[in-house]
Amino acid sequence: MHARIRDGLRPGVTLASLDTIAQDVLTHRGATSNFLHYHGYPATICASPNEVVVHGIPDERVLHDGDIVSIDCGAIVDGWHGDAAFTAPVGAVAPASLELIAAAERSLVAAIAVMNPGAHLSDIGAAVQGVAEGAGFGVVREYTGHGIGRQMHEEPSVPNYGRPGRGPTLAVGNVLAIEPMLTAGDPGTIMGSDGWTVSTIDGGWATHVEHTVAVTDNGPEILTAP
Ligand code: MF3
Ligand code: CO
Repeated sequence: MHARIRDGLRPGVTLASLDTIAQDVLTHRGATSNFLHYHGYPATICASPNEVVVHGIPDERVLHDGDIVSIDCGAIVDGWHGDAAFTAPVGAVAPASLELIAAAERSLVAAIAVMNPGAHLSDIGAAVQGVAEGAGFGVVREYTGHGIGRQMHEEPSVPNYGRPGRGPTLAVGNVLAIEPMLTAGDPGTIMGSDGWTVSTIDGGWATHVEHTVAVTDNGPEILTAP
């Protein structure tokens, strides 16, 4: 699904057309959407361009050359939930925005890498924050990762910041959605009038990347890898 949407990303496409691709993939793979109708959410994906951090509703907004866009899409297969997101450039994008995307991806990799049995939950947030702030970017505080399984959102919540070595420890069988949200400027956010769209307070651009990850005897396993 993410690969199909990535292929469809080019200047001139609407966010709504990306939602149609996602619906099509889910239908053909016998999966159902965990986003559609979630607390009234009206679409299959969240499409969050530029200054939108998360939960942008895919509408007739057109993507332009030089934009970036975060696509978040989950699915339910055999009663189990997956949740994953990526941020991608549209056409030719400024180097600073490419670096924002790369830092978000590095922060996700670093966070997943600490997810061994016995690690502390707060090690995840510390890893994200270390990479993000080390690269000069902001970390959004108001939204977090989460446990995931038979429900999309389960305990615990997984902040993208904090000191390592605190809180509960990870055990084999735990499954967490890890979702760093990085900003070029101020990490503060504002909620849009639609009650969903979360944007940066300063209009700076933002990224959102996410994987669903299981803690196993052999270390972390990414369940939403392509
Ligand atoms: N992946 C999103 C999250 O964990 C799920 C969005 S729910 C929706 O916050 F309803 F906004 F789609
Ligand atoms: Co999520």
